[in-house]
Formats: sequence, structure tokens, C-alpha cells
Amino acid sequence: MAFPTFVPPASTTTGQPSAHNDSEIVLQTQALTKVFGSRTAVDHLNLAVRRGEVFGFLGPNGAGKTTTIRMALGLITPTSGSVEILGQNVWQQRDRVLSQVGALIETPALHLYMSGRDNLQAVASILGTADARRIDEVLGLVDLSDRQRDRVSTYSLGMKQRLGVAVALLDDPQVLILDEPANGLDPAGIVEMRDLLRRLATQGKTIVISSHVLSEVQQICTRVAIINHGKLVTTSTIDDLTRGQGYFVIHVEDATRAFAAIKSQPWGREATLEPNLTIHTAAPDGRGRDLVSFLVGVGCVPDQVAYEQVQLEEVFLRLTSTPGAANGGA
Ligand SMILES: Nc1ncnc2c1ncn2[C@@H]1O[C@H](COP(=O)(O)OP(=O)(O)OP(=O)(O)O)[C@@H](O)[C@H]1O
Ligand SMILES: [Mg+2]
Repeated sequence: MAFPTFVPPASTTTGQPSAHNDSEIVLQTQALTKVFGSRTAVDHLNLAVRRGEVFGFLGPNGAGKTTTIRMALGLITPTSGSVEILGQNVWQQRDRVLSQVGALIETPALHLYMSGRDNLQAVASILGTADARRIDEVLGLVDLSDRQRDRVSTYSLGMKQRLGVAVALLDDPQVLILDEPANGLDPAGIVEMRDLLRRLATQGKTIVISSHVLSEVQQICTRVAIINHGKLVTTSTIDDLTRGQGYFVIHVEDATRAFAAIKSQPWGREATLEPNLTIHTAAPDGRGRDLVSFLVGVGCVPDQVAYEQVQLEEVFLRLTSTPGAANGGA
């Protein structure tokens, strides 16, 4: 388990927000690479996150998400390649860049014996920027106003994670980078975290969230990048990831004959006859009605034809289970 790290936005007055432009690239990595000994944790990664996006950074355990985020936050040096945030190289202009970035890496480092409010106060005094009003504001944003005086040791995991996000928000950063913010949360905690991130997105923040569980982020992310073994597998919208990945389920009386007819077609080569005698298949040009016409044409009038959308989790697993790519080879 990695040591919990909290990264407060660096306090400086030099980093002015640039002019707002939705297509502006806010965070960009170019051939970003990190090698630990003989293990390549991040391998020539190219990513571009635009202003206002809620960007999902996804990959299974050990894929290189935290390592990428640490490089993006100037916590570790890239072996090669670069990260730019708001057009500035993170490594060369660290303080200037990081004044615009709030971050939470894995679990937040909080003082458990202090209240939520006092934790925020402590960070605020280090930053020298936030006032009591801002603390009220961030407490409201993360829905902790009524528990602010309680000791953090009495908080649920979800409340601690939200307090971690509140800390990251103190300096009102333009960009929020959250490493596994839903890690370890129960379904209710995940919903609360999702609501919080949605609220922040409507305020125009650019948000990058990493996760190894696709379902945690699929409802809020505008776009996702999937990485595996440090390499980019794909960057896509959620819709594009699942489009065309579904299949038709056919109930038909003479399933064996219908199945043979489908299998003889170029679009039906992958069809399967299931133990319950339903047929799973693609359709000609993906069109359900052409499939029905075909079945009628071969004398197998179907009782039911339903489209089954493939679960995103399945797509994710398929994309990240490339055989023969042992992690790092160390
Ligand atoms: N300080 C380090 N020294 C050596 N190897 C490291 C170090 N940090 C990370 N690694 C290795 O780099 C690879 C990527 O790790 P990383 O923590 O970035 O993955 P991750 O995608 O965040 O995984 P998880 O979902 O488990 O958090 C792993 O093989 C890990 O063992
Ligand atoms: Mg990680």
C-alpha cells in the first residue's frame, strides 16, 4: 500500500488563470516515461485533457496511474518525456503550475484527532491564502458542514475522502487531480463522491480521476483514457467505447436451424448457440430489423429478438487483458 500523500496547491500569486476556452488543452503528457530499475511503469504516454472535462484515467492495478499522476504533480521526475499543465512544463515551473492544481493521491493525509474544520484551517494557514469563508464554502461543497466540528476519527471513509477533496479545493484550483477518490468506498459513498465531482464539474473545473473500477467513473466522465502496463490502450468517450459492442439475443423455435443459417453468413460467424437455446449474434450492418428479415427469409420466424448492450466493465477487461504482457518484466 502506497504511503498516503496529500499535495496542497503550492501557494503563489504568479499563476494567473489563462483565458477560458473549452477546447484548450489543460493537461498534456508527451511520451511520458518512468522507469524504476528494470520496470517501465509508464511507457511513452501521450494524454491530452481539455478544459472543463471530467477525464477518467483508467487501468488495472499496477497500470501506472499513480506514477503518472505523481509525475504530473512534480512529485517524481520523469525518466523521459514531459507533462504540461496550463501550457507550462510541470518540472521546470513547478510552483507556478501547481498553484492551479488541487490533488488527492490515494488516501488523504488527515489529522484524525482534529476536527474536519481544523484540518482545513491547518492547511489554509500553510497556504496563507484561504479565509474562513472559503473554508465554509469548501465544507458546503463536500457536504460536510454539519460534521465540521467532529473529530475526523469519527468520520466514515467516504467523509474522509470528501474532506481530502475539500483540502484539495481550498485554493480554488482550476484543475483537480484525484487518484482513486472512490477507493474503498461503499456504494453509497461512491454515489456521494460522484455527486460531489459532478457539482465541481458544473463549476467549470477540469477534473482528472483515476480508477481501476470503470463503473465508478463511467457515469461522470466525459472521456476516458485506458492504460495498461504503462501504455495507452485507448482514449475515447464512454459511448464510443461501448458502441457496436453489443449483440442480439434471439429466441426462435428451431434454434439449431436458425443458428446454422446465421453461421453461414459473414456477419454471423461469431454467433453462439447458448445452453438455453438462445442465439447470440451480430446483425447485418448491426441492424436488428435486417436480422429479423433474414430469419424470416430462411423460415425461422423469431419469437423474440433483443439487443444486449455489453457492459462497459467487460469492454474494459477485454482491452486490458492483453495476453503475454507481463507487468514490467522485472
Ligand atoms: N517507487 C517505486 N519503485 C519501484 N517500482 C514502482 C514504484 N512505484 C511504482 N512502481 C511500479 O510501477 C508500476 C505502476 O505502479 P502504479 O502505482 O503507478 O500503478 P497504479 O496504476 O496506480 O496501480 P493501482 O491501481 O494499484 O493503484 C507497478 O508495477 C509498481 O510496482
Ligand atoms: Mg495507484
